[in-house]
Amino acid sequence: MDSPTTRPDVPAASRRRPAAETLLALLEARRSVGMTTLAAPGPDAAELKRALAIAVRSPDHGMLEPWRFVVLEGEARFAAGAGLARLYEAENQAMDPEKRAKFAGIMSRVFTYAPTVVIVVSRTDAEARIPAWEQELSAGAVCMNLLHAVHALGFDGTWLTGWAAYSPGAQALLGLDAGERIAGIVHIGTAKEPPGERKRPDLAARTTWWQAPGDA
Ligand SMILES: Cc1cc2nc3c(=O)[nH]c(=O)nc-3n(C[C@H](O)[C@H](O)[C@H](O)COP(=O)(O)O)c2cc1C
Repeated sequence: MDSPTTRPDVPAASRRRPAAETLLALLEARRSVGMTTLAAPGPDAAELKRALAIAVRSPDHGMLEPWRFVVLEGEARFAAGAGLARLYEAENQAMDPEKRAKFAGIMSRVFTYAPTVVIVVSRTDAEARIPAWEQELSAGAVCMNLLHAVHALGFDGTWLTGWAAYSPGAQALLGLDAGERIAGIVHIGTAKEPPGERKRPDLAARTTWWQAPGDA
Protein backbone atom coordinates (compact mmCIF):
# COMPACT_ATOMS: atom_id res chain seq x y z
CA MET A 1 0.00 0.00 0.00
CA ASP A 2 1.37 3.37 -0.97
CA SER A 3 -0.17 5.56 1.66
CA PRO A 4 -0.60 4.69 5.32
CA THR A 5 -3.91 4.35 6.98
CA THR A 6 -4.99 7.16 9.21
CA ARG A 7 -7.29 4.92 11.23
CA PRO A 8 -6.90 5.82 14.89
CA ASP A 9 -7.13 2.16 15.91
CA VAL A 10 -3.92 1.36 14.01
CA PRO A 11 -0.81 1.85 16.19
CA ALA A 12 1.23 4.92 15.29
CA ALA A 13 4.31 2.85 14.42
CA SER A 14 2.29 0.99 11.79
CA ARG A 15 1.14 4.24 10.27
CA ARG A 16 4.69 5.23 9.39
CA ARG A 17 5.12 5.92 5.71
CA PRO A 18 7.12 3.36 3.74
CA ALA A 19 10.80 4.32 3.83
CA ALA A 20 10.07 6.75 6.65
CA GLU A 21 13.32 5.94 8.45
CA THR A 22 15.33 6.75 5.33
CA LEU A 23 13.56 10.07 4.97
CA LEU A 24 13.92 10.90 8.66
CA ALA A 25 17.63 10.07 8.54
CA LEU A 26 18.04 12.43 5.58
CA LEU A 27 16.19 15.21 7.38
CA GLU A 28 18.32 14.66 10.46
CA ALA A 29 21.59 14.67 8.56
CA ARG A 30 21.14 17.56 6.14
CA ARG A 31 23.25 20.58 6.74
CA SER A 32 24.35 23.63 4.85
CA VAL A 33 27.83 23.88 3.41
CA GLY A 34 29.98 26.92 2.74
CA MET A 35 29.25 28.45 -0.65
CA THR A 36 32.92 28.32 -1.67
CA THR A 37 33.15 24.61 -0.90
CA LEU A 38 30.50 23.84 -3.51
CA ALA A 39 31.56 22.57 -6.92
CA ALA A 40 30.29 20.40 -9.77
CA PRO A 41 28.45 18.16 -10.19
CA GLY A 42 25.13 19.80 -9.68
CA PRO A 43 21.72 18.46 -10.54
CA ASP A 44 21.00 17.70 -14.18
CA ALA A 45 17.88 19.16 -15.81
CA ALA A 46 15.58 16.35 -14.65
CA GLU A 47 16.94 16.41 -11.12
CA LEU A 48 16.60 20.17 -10.86
CA LYS A 49 13.05 20.03 -12.17
CA ARG A 50 12.23 17.37 -9.59
CA ALA A 51 13.79 19.43 -6.78
CA LEU A 52 11.86 22.54 -7.81
CA ALA A 53 8.64 20.52 -8.02
CA ILE A 54 9.24 19.33 -4.45
CA ALA A 55 10.08 22.87 -3.35
CA VAL A 56 6.72 24.21 -4.51
CA ARG A 57 4.88 21.50 -2.59
CA SER A 58 4.97 23.96 0.27
CA PRO A 59 2.13 25.28 2.37
CA ASP A 60 0.63 28.29 0.64
CA HIS A 61 -2.37 29.88 2.35
CA GLY A 62 -4.90 30.90 -0.28
CA MET A 63 -2.92 29.16 -3.06
CA LEU A 64 -1.45 32.47 -4.12
CA GLU A 65 1.86 30.94 -5.21
CA PRO A 66 3.69 33.94 -3.75
CA TRP A 67 7.09 32.89 -5.06
CA ARG A 68 8.93 32.06 -8.25
CA PHE A 69 12.41 30.92 -9.24
CA VAL A 70 15.26 32.49 -11.15
CA VAL A 71 17.82 29.82 -12.10
CA LEU A 72 21.42 30.57 -12.94
CA GLU A 73 23.58 27.90 -14.52
CA GLY A 74 26.62 27.76 -16.78
CA GLU A 75 27.86 31.01 -18.29
CA ALA A 76 24.86 32.93 -16.96
CA ARG A 77 26.41 32.69 -13.47
CA PHE A 78 29.55 34.47 -14.65
CA ALA A 79 27.62 37.11 -16.55
CA ALA A 80 25.44 37.81 -13.51
CA GLY A 81 28.50 38.00 -11.26
CA ALA A 82 30.23 40.44 -13.61
CA GLY A 83 27.10 42.57 -13.60
CA LEU A 84 26.92 42.49 -9.81
CA ALA A 85 30.57 43.54 -9.53
CA ARG A 86 30.04 46.53 -11.86
CA LEU A 87 26.96 47.50 -9.90
CA TYR A 88 28.76 47.18 -6.57
CA GLU A 89 31.50 49.51 -7.84
CA ALA A 90 28.92 52.01 -9.08
CA GLU A 91 26.85 51.91 -5.89
CA ASN A 92 29.82 52.35 -3.56
CA GLN A 93 31.74 55.26 -5.05
CA ALA A 94 32.40 56.75 -1.61
CA MET A 95 34.01 53.56 -0.30
CA ASP A 96 37.75 53.12 0.11
CA PRO A 97 38.81 51.95 -3.40
CA GLU A 98 40.75 48.95 -2.13
CA LYS A 99 37.83 47.76 -0.03
CA ARG A 100 35.42 48.43 -2.90
CA ALA A 101 37.52 46.40 -5.33
CA LYS A 102 37.73 43.56 -2.81
CA PHE A 103 33.96 43.34 -2.33
CA ALA A 104 33.28 43.82 -6.03
CA GLY A 105 35.61 40.87 -6.64
CA ILE A 106 33.64 38.79 -4.15
CA MET A 107 30.43 39.73 -5.98
CA SER A 108 31.92 38.75 -9.33
CA ARG A 109 32.53 35.23 -7.94
CA VAL A 110 29.41 34.79 -5.83
CA PHE A 111 27.54 32.63 -8.36
CA THR A 112 30.56 30.79 -9.73
CA TYR A 113 31.20 28.11 -7.08
CA ALA A 114 27.97 26.12 -7.14
CA PRO A 115 27.01 24.83 -10.60
CA THR A 116 23.38 25.71 -9.96
CA VAL A 117 22.05 28.75 -8.19
CA VAL A 118 18.33 29.08 -7.57
CA ILE A 119 17.02 32.43 -6.52
CA VAL A 120 13.74 32.03 -4.67
CA VAL A 121 11.79 35.20 -5.29
CA SER A 122 9.06 36.22 -2.85
CA ARG A 123 6.18 37.89 -4.70
CA THR A 124 3.76 39.07 -2.10
CA ASP A 125 0.33 40.28 -3.11
CA ALA A 126 -0.38 43.18 -0.76
CA GLU A 127 -4.02 43.28 -1.87
CA ALA A 128 -4.70 39.62 -1.06
CA ARG A 129 -6.77 38.62 1.95
CA ILE A 130 -3.84 36.47 3.15
CA PRO A 131 -1.41 38.50 5.29
CA ALA A 132 1.88 39.40 3.59
CA TRP A 133 3.70 37.71 6.48
CA GLU A 134 2.14 34.36 5.59
CA GLN A 135 3.05 34.79 1.95
CA GLU A 136 6.64 35.49 2.95
CA LEU A 137 6.68 32.44 5.22
CA SER A 138 5.54 30.35 2.25
CA ALA A 139 8.55 31.57 0.26
CA GLY A 140 10.77 30.54 3.17
CA ALA A 141 9.16 27.11 3.17
CA VAL A 142 9.96 26.79 -0.55
CA CYS A 143 13.64 27.51 0.20
CA MET A 144 13.69 24.89 2.94
CA ASN A 145 11.93 22.25 0.85
CA LEU A 146 14.38 22.91 -1.96
CA LEU A 147 17.33 22.34 0.37
CA HIS A 148 15.86 19.06 1.57
CA ALA A 149 15.10 17.93 -1.98
CA VAL A 150 18.61 18.57 -3.27
CA HIS A 151 20.04 16.82 -0.22
CA ALA A 152 17.89 13.76 -0.87
CA LEU A 153 19.02 13.81 -4.51
CA GLY A 154 22.62 13.55 -3.32
CA PHE A 155 23.74 17.16 -3.60
CA ASP A 156 24.69 19.84 -1.12
CA GLY A 157 23.32 23.31 -0.80
CA THR A 158 23.20 26.47 1.18
CA TRP A 159 20.62 29.24 1.62
CA LEU A 160 22.16 32.68 1.53
CA THR A 161 21.18 36.28 0.98
CA GLY A 162 23.64 39.20 1.34
CA TRP A 163 24.13 42.34 -0.71
CA ALA A 164 23.04 40.68 -3.97
CA ALA A 165 19.67 39.91 -2.37
CA TYR A 166 19.05 43.33 -0.89
CA SER A 167 20.51 45.88 -3.29
CA PRO A 168 17.64 47.24 -5.44
CA GLY A 169 20.07 47.47 -8.35
CA ALA A 170 21.08 43.83 -7.95
CA GLN A 171 17.44 42.81 -7.71
CA ALA A 172 16.73 44.57 -11.01
CA LEU A 173 19.80 42.98 -12.61
CA LEU A 174 18.56 39.54 -11.55
CA GLY A 175 15.19 40.20 -13.13
CA LEU A 176 13.00 41.02 -10.15
CA ASP A 177 9.91 43.09 -10.72
CA ALA A 178 8.87 45.97 -8.50
CA GLY A 179 7.59 44.67 -5.18
CA GLU A 180 9.41 41.34 -5.47
CA ARG A 181 12.07 40.37 -2.97
CA ILE A 182 14.65 37.65 -2.66
CA ALA A 183 13.76 35.04 -0.03
CA GLY A 184 16.90 33.09 -0.65
CA ILE A 185 19.77 32.47 -2.99
CA VAL A 186 20.12 28.70 -2.86
CA HIS A 187 23.51 27.49 -4.07
CA ILE A 188 23.45 23.84 -5.15
CA GLY A 189 26.30 21.50 -6.01
CA THR A 190 28.58 18.96 -4.39
CA ALA A 191 30.64 19.82 -1.33
CA LYS A 192 34.38 19.43 -1.90
CA GLU A 193 34.71 18.35 1.72
CA PRO A 194 32.09 16.79 3.96
CA PRO A 195 30.40 19.47 6.04
CA GLY A 196 30.92 19.28 9.79
CA GLU A 197 27.97 19.52 12.13
CA ARG A 198 27.17 22.86 13.71
CA LYS A 199 25.86 23.50 17.19
CA ARG A 200 22.16 22.68 17.17
CA PRO A 201 19.56 24.51 19.20
CA ASP A 202 18.71 23.44 22.72
CA LEU A 203 15.25 22.15 21.99
CA ALA A 204 14.11 22.28 25.60
CA ALA A 205 15.05 25.96 25.81
CA ARG A 206 13.06 26.67 22.65
CA THR A 207 9.93 24.69 23.56
CA THR A 208 7.15 25.58 25.94
CA TRP A 209 4.49 23.06 26.85
CA TRP A 210 1.67 25.49 27.33
CA GLN A 211 -0.72 24.88 30.18
CA ALA A 212 -3.87 26.69 31.08
CA PRO A 213 -3.36 29.15 33.94
CA GLY A 214 -3.96 27.33 37.20
CA ASP A 215 -3.08 23.89 35.77
CA ALA A 216 -0.60 21.97 37.87
C1 LIG B 1 16.94 33.81 5.00
C2 LIG B 1 18.32 33.34 5.32
C3 LIG B 1 19.40 34.03 4.81
C4 LIG B 1 20.70 33.65 5.10
N1 LIG B 1 21.74 34.36 4.58
C5 LIG B 1 23.00 34.03 4.91
C6 LIG B 1 24.11 34.78 4.39
O1 LIG B 1 23.93 35.69 3.59
N2 LIG B 1 25.33 34.43 4.80
C7 LIG B 1 25.56 33.39 5.66
O2 LIG B 1 26.71 33.11 6.01
N3 LIG B 1 24.54 32.63 6.13
C8 LIG B 1 23.27 32.94 5.79
N4 LIG B 1 22.23 32.19 6.26
C9 LIG B 1 22.51 31.05 7.13
C10 LIG B 1 22.96 29.85 6.33
O3 LIG B 1 21.90 29.29 5.61
C11 LIG B 1 23.58 28.90 7.32
O4 LIG B 1 24.67 28.34 6.70
C12 LIG B 1 22.63 27.87 7.85
O5 LIG B 1 21.84 28.47 8.85
C13 LIG B 1 23.36 26.66 8.41
O6 LIG B 1 22.45 25.83 9.04
P1 LIG B 1 22.03 24.37 8.54
O7 LIG B 1 23.24 23.52 8.47
O8 LIG B 1 21.10 23.92 9.61
O9 LIG B 1 21.34 24.49 7.23
C14 LIG B 1 20.93 32.52 5.94
C15 LIG B 1 19.83 31.81 6.42
C16 LIG B 1 18.54 32.20 6.12
C17 LIG B 1 17.39 31.40 6.68
